Amino acid sequence: MPKAFYVTTPIYYVNDAPHIGHAYTTVATDFIARWHRQRQEDVWFLTGTDEHGEKVMRTAEANGTDPQTWADRLVEEAWKPVLKTIDASNDDFIRTTEPRHVARVQEFIQKLHDNGEIFEGTYEGYYCVACEEYKQPGDLVEGTGEYAGQLVCSIHGRPVEKLSETNYFFRMSAYTERLLEFYEQNPGFVQPESARNEVLGFVRQGLQDLSISRSTFDWGVTVPWDPEHVIYVWFDALLNYATAVGYGADPEKYERTWPADIHFVGKDILRFHAVIWPAMLMAAGEPLPKKVFAHGWLLVGGEKMSKSKLTGIAPAQITDTFGSDAFRYYFLRAIAFGNDGSFSWEDIAARYQAELANGLGNLASRVAAMVGRYFDGALPTPGPATDAEEALAAVAAKAAHDADAAVDRVAPHEALAAVWTLVDAANGYITEQQPWAVAKDDAQRERLATILYSSAEALRALAVLLNPVMPKATAKLWESLGAEKALGALAAQPVADAGRWGQLVPGAEVTKGDALFPRLDLAAADQ
Ligand code: ME8
Ligand code: MG
Repeated sequence: MPKAFYVTTPIYYVNDAPHIGHAYTTVATDFIARWHRQRQEDVWFLTGTDEHGEKVMRTAEANGTDPQTWADRLVEEAWKPVLKTIDASNDDFIRTTEPRHVARVQEFIQKLHDNGEIFEGTYEGYYCVACEEYKQPGDLVEGTGEYAGQLVCSIHGRPVEKLSETNYFFRMSAYTERLLEFYEQNPGFVQPESARNEVLGFVRQGLQDLSISRSTFDWGVTVPWDPEHVIYVWFDALLNYATAVGYGADPEKYERTWPADIHFVGKDILRFHAVIWPAMLMAAGEPLPKKVFAHGWLLVGGEKMSKSKLTGIAPAQITDTFGSDAFRYYFLRAIAFGNDGSFSWEDIAARYQAELANGLGNLASRVAAMVGRYFDGALPTPGPATDAEEALAAVAAKAAHDADAAVDRVAPHEALAAVWTLVDAANGYITEQQPWAVAKDDAQRERLATILYSSAEALRALAVLLNPVMPKATAKLWESLGAEKALGALAAQPVADAGRWGQLVPGAEVTKGDALFPRLDLAAADQ
């Protein structure tokens, strides 16, 4: 059995409901998962929720309830529903409070303890509850406004708390050299390059041992040899990627799935994934993930959109107006993956109008309408190809090839730009060929057939190449082209074959369904 292509999102804290920053990571992961499925690969896509720790516990308390009840409610009312809102195709959803996870985390930490990787010690330092992390002096900045005069976390802008505790430590310092060697031998492990440089710079300073238990509260996984302690929430959370695919429980599934091919994360949690997690796996003798990709932040007023600063926009606020396809397309197309970006209503509305409604949607409806009008809805048999058809076919082949290569570089924005060369070329082709004028001359029936068949072929290739980003619109397009009967399901069309010209079968029933991207009520989008 070949190994599955395994991709993950972070597991999100259930201290609050998701905003578009979380949806962004999930959509990007989903796009890559769907693309690999469209290549006809075996794919496993995991997402889930991080439910232990002080942050979730305090939120529950502040809301007058216990953390398990709070987590159950947030998962069912917010975190699972948002996956539908953004059309995520995850294969599994893990919660860190599930027994399948908790028991394996205890076994893992016990194993490290037995191997002499864990010792007892005292730590004093500044803790950021929002990050769930002890901060180094270099991570802190002077607070402003209500926090003036205090040291605050540079990510959350909130005061840190000075803690002094006796707890258990993981001998992470022993892994500095091994990690540096690993990064050296695997230059693609941390991406993009800016993230790799940050990690290298950090590890080169030498790693400290890591405090991996807490004893001042009890909302976490109990340390098996000392029930007074719970396991540090990050140590617990990172293990989800292994426990969810059968670590210690289902060797066959684990073999088939682990290691992960790409862990998608935001740059705020890069070090946990690119430093602590591989060190943990090295200590346990488990294979390391192949890649950690840290994307940038969605910004609001120049700062990271965040739950704690109440600057989050709920995904449904956007999908209610634009739909899930446009949401997915917009974030993947408009932001160079890896860089920070800002969301704006004007920008998404402009792209919706220009690229989706006028660019792709109009192309699809014009072609279907003309096949209806001039050929009674039966896809005509093309005559001899001219230079114009050959040029269009060449654009399709190149678009498919370039988009596929961009996906391997984890560059969704480049993949979509490559596919859009075909949208533009097909629109340009129709404008030049003027099928409505050709249709006036009965002697040119065959030429008209060639133009419409070729336009439909461009749409066929677009349906395949855009299925991973806009599954709803492409399902409608596939239906409208009457392609299923001769070619089979859209999902079964291999990416590598998408640019091969001439697959649609003449006689197919072409229908003009609803607009792929309906006109917007822009007043509503303006709020
Ligand atoms: O850190 N822009 O959970 P979390 C882009 N539980 N992405 C953003 C974002 C923004 N403004 N805000 C959040 C945790 N994200 C831990 C993870 S994994 C073993 C444990 C996305 O709820 C981005 O992926 O704080 C970021 O890394 C993640 O949500 C943090 O989610
Ligand atoms: Mg966070």
